[in-house]
Amino acid sequence: LSAENERDVTLKNLCQFLSENVDYYNWVGFYFANHENNTLHLGPYVGAATDHTVIPFGKGICGQVAVSNSNFVVPDVSAQDNYIACSFTVKSEIVVPLFVNGINIGQIDIDSHVLDPFTEADERFLEFVNQEVAKLF
Ligand code: SME
Repeated sequence: LSAENERDVTLKNLCQFLSENVDYYNWVGFYFANHENNTLHLGPYVGAATDHTVIPFGKGICGQVAVSNSNFVVPDVSAQDNYIACSFTVKSEIVVPLFVNGINIGQIDIDSHVLDPFTEADERFLEFVNQEVAKLF
């Protein structure tokens, strides 16, 4: 396996681990930024297949985080107008940016079938997860 593919296997296993161990983490995936053309590209994920494999910066919750460099917790996706629906079963979402050497290179994105499940503990936990993920780059 190339280093890149080994990392993708690790990230996919991480997505699997998170979705199996937190009951309200129903879709877990990574998007990675292409800073040449300002788009996000779907990386390893676990959950329902999505049509949204490429997302322009600024578009949807993910695209907004690519620009803001900040966590985005959405307790109720139906209350968002700049939101990209992947599945009608999704009720809420959390996106936490992934920084490598201070650069926002992508994000972890989690969708939930539960309304308003995410707390500050999820934010701190996912920031920690991303700090560990950053070491793979
Ligand atoms: N809901 C996201 C799109 C990605 S899917 O959740 C997998 C958004 O609004 O950016």
